[in-house]
Parts: sequence; structure tokens; C-alpha cells
Amino acid sequence: MGISEKTRAQMQESSWIRRMFEEAAALSAEHGAENVFDLSLGNPLLEPPPEFRDELLRIANDEAPGTHRYMPNGGFPETRTAVARGLAVDTGLGFEGGDIIMTCGAGAALNVTFRAILDPGDEVVLIAPFFAEYTFYVDHQGGVPVVATSHDDFQPDMESIRAAITDRTRAVLINSPNNPSGAIYSEATLASLAGVIQEAEARFGTEIFLISDEPYRKLMYTDDPYPFVFPHHTRSVVATSHSKDLGLAGERIGFIAVNPGYTDRGEFIDAVTFANRTLGFVNAPAIMQRIVAKLQNVTVDVSEYRQKRDFVYSALTKMGYECVEPQGAFYMFPRSPLPDDQEFIRLLQSKLVLTVPGVGFGTPGYFRLSFCVEDRVLEGALPGFEAALAEARG
Ligand SMILES: Cc1ncc(COP(=O)(O)O)c(C=O)c1O
Repeated sequence: MGISEKTRAQMQESSWIRRMFEEAAALSAEHGAENVFDLSLGNPLLEPPPEFRDELLRIANDEAPGTHRYMPNGGFPETRTAVARGLAVDTGLGFEGGDIIMTCGAGAALNVTFRAILDPGDEVVLIAPFFAEYTFYVDHQGGVPVVATSHDDFQPDMESIRAAITDRTRAVLINSPNNPSGAIYSEATLASLAGVIQEAEARFGTEIFLISDEPYRKLMYTDDPYPFVFPHHTRSVVATSHSKDLGLAGERIGFIAVNPGYTDRGEFIDAVTFANRTLGFVNAPAIMQRIVAKLQNVTVDVSEYRQKRDFVYSALTKMGYECVEPQGAFYMFPRSPLPDDQEFIRLLQSKLVLTVPGVGFGTPGYFRLSFCVEDRVLEGALPGFEAALAEARG
């Protein structure tokens, strides 16, 4: 008794990263923390840029009355306007403050969006590999996740998406740059995806949202412009946060941006604002809203993550690991040298290297490592990777 059977089952299903965390603690106690190489967590390594601290101090020293009170549930108008201005520059589209809702991170942004659009039993198409929490977000808001697949380069498989869409589909959720693969969905991919969605809308007489989860948008290792969903599908929404691009994961600040070309966006924004309030988020944190309003053009030093990506990608592929080079985010998703990815991550663990099996991302046969760790940890993990590969090959 106590907790529900459903929650018990979900906790069991989602326990990979938590299990790794516990393993890391146990291994550190046994072998010494300096001998354990934990690449299982996506906790941003880089500290917020200096501008963050400047703004924080400015607000602390110059506290206007009401700084800590409630504000409109969608956020401070000046913050929403600042975010809209940044997006208008980045996309060339006419974003206004009213198209933005401030949220407690991307996780909350996705939950309130699903709450606003899903009736019980409605379906959301996810594309594997995907961030493990998605299935729970959809389920918590009464929906049913339906999983489509990707090709070997981690670009989505359009045939699989076409087959996954039904008359109950209310949204297709994408994530680019992708956790866990680091893939960035190209402009051509987004155009094809929008085509598949629009063809299904016509076939079923329904409306389908394209939701893009973009917390890694500013962590890219290519000079190409970021391919946005907005030009491809009018019913499109971005959910994102400053957890990674400003290193503020613990502060819970993000936003939803609705395509300015979506004609029913007024009602959508009202629904999302209502969901933000009644799911108990109420509003995004006040001080963080004031700070990020000033930091829309600021990002952590991406070159540090790029160096780590280059280092670990080059080392692992030289050893013989098969891997698609990540173009963004701070993860790599190599193929497991053993058919059973869980067996392989246990083998790595015996070498004191902690990673997460692909099954945790809806894609068995792979494993994820996070390279947002100190260089010492990446370097220290290499002998373990080499030994595990040799053992796996027999
Ligand atoms: C793909 C993806 N989406 C959403 C989140 C949630 O991030 P947050 O709620 O901190 O913005 C994460 C966190 O790791 C993520 O990797």
C-alpha cells in the first residue's frame, strides 16, 4: 500500500540514472572518489557567466518593494518581451511578449503544454532516442506516449513517424540538439517532419502540434544556424530553459514560445497559463525572471564543452567504439559493443566507469555518456573504456 502501483512501476522503470548515482556513491566509498569516473549525469559543469552574478547582486542591492511577490502567471511582461525580442532576432519572426510564457524550466514547460492540449487517452509521438522523463510527463498529463524511431545517424525515420500517428495524435515531440545522441535535426528533416504531420492532419481531419524541446539550442558545435521548427509548422511550440545555456539548472527558469503565426495562439496561451498556475508551478521564480531578461544574449563558454566533445569522441572512436559525432548538447551515444547494453554498462562499471544504458532512452543497443565533467574524469575514464571494449570483444 502507501504509494500507488502506477508510481511504483514508473519509479522502477525510471531508476537507471538514480541507480547509477547510488552505484557511484558505493564505488567511491570502496575505491575512493578520485578512482571512480561518473559519466552518468547531465548536470551542467560550467558555472553561470559573470553577467549572472552581476545582475543577481544588482537586484539584491537594489530591492524594489514587491520583488518577491506573485506576478501574472505567465511571467513579468518585461521578461516576456525580452525573451520575445531575442527570439525575433534569432528566428526573423515577429515574436511579441504575449507569445511567451515563463516556466520553471523545460520540464515544467512540457508538462503545462501537455496539460493544455491533451484529453485523456490522446497520443504524443516521441522519437527514440529520447529524454527518459518524456514518457512520464505525457502520462502525468493523461496522454499516451507512442514511440517512433530514428535512422542510424539519429535523424528521425519519417516512415516510422507516419506509422505512429493516429487519429488520437495531438502532438509530435522532438528534441534537438538531442539528449542522448547530440544530433541536431536539420532543416530538411524538419521540413519532412512537418510534411508528415500536415499530411496526417489532412487524412484524419485533426490538428497536431509540433513541440520542440530545446534546452541545448545554444550548445552547438557547428557554425550553421539553428534549424527552428517555426517556419515549418504553424501549430508549433518551443519548450526550453536556461538550465544548460546559462548553467542555471537548479534555479528552474525557462519558457514556452508559441509560433506567432499560429492563429489560435490566444486560447493556447490562456490554457498554458492556466495549467502553469493549477499544476502548482504558479509562476517562474521572480528573481530568475528579472535576471534572464537581461541575459538573453549571453551563453556559457561553449568552446569548453566542444573541447570535451572533441577529446572524448576522438579517444573513443580511435579505440574502436562506433559513434555518431554529437553536434550539440553534452552527451555521446555510442553503440554498445555487446548486444545487451545493460550488460555492457555493468562491464564498464566493473572498470569504475559509470554510464547509462540505451534502454533508458528507448533505444537498447547503445549507451550514453555525459561529457560535462571535469577533464580529469574524462581522462581517467579512458583506460576503463579500453579495457571494457577489449573484454567485450573477447
Ligand atoms: C532533453 C531535455 N529536456 C528537458 C530537460 C529538463 O530540463 P529543465 O527542466 O532543467 O529545463 C532536460 C534535462 O536534462 C533534457 O535533457
